Amino acid sequence: MRRRLFLAALAAAGTTRSASAQSANPGLLRVWRDPDCGCCTGWVEHMRAAGFAVEDTLVASPGPARRMLGIPADLLSCHAAAIGGYALEGHVPAAAVLRLLADRPADIRGLAVPAMPAGSPGMEIPGQPDDTYDVIAFDGSAGRRIFMRFRGHQAL
Ligand code: CU
Ligand code: CU
Repeated sequence: MRRRLFLAALAAAGTTRSASAQSANPGLLRVWRDPDCGCCTGWVEHMRAAGFAVEDTLVASPGPARRMLGIPADLLSCHAAAIGGYALEGHVPAAAVLRLLADRPADIRGLAVPAMPAGSPGMEIPGQPDDTYDVIAFDGSAGRRIFMRFRGHQAL
């Protein structure tokens, strides 16, 4: 009896610990990028500043990583990434990734910000107004929807 209580207490402590670790640390963000791409570096710095631990992989082309992750060819930007079982393409703001990891939608494969909107994280251009752009949730086939909309770093 005493042993069962002890094991139950251990299990409860373990649950609490993993739940708080999950909220504090969303897991490793794996990034594939061209070493010469300045805006990719800027995005990695933005994600690190938001608390993400980054595994930064320098590649001649993120193409093979994109194919592995199932990123649709028409949503391309400059770098590919993965976290928590989801794919990311381009300058997706940390706020959108945090919402993705909090909601964990089962019907999508990942998020993309196609092209490189001015003012998106890593694409800040002094003297140029911030673009308004969509973060697109894609499922790997035809289905996709607008996940969030931003102007620069600001969620709209
Ligand atoms: Cu870029
Ligand atoms: Cu990039």
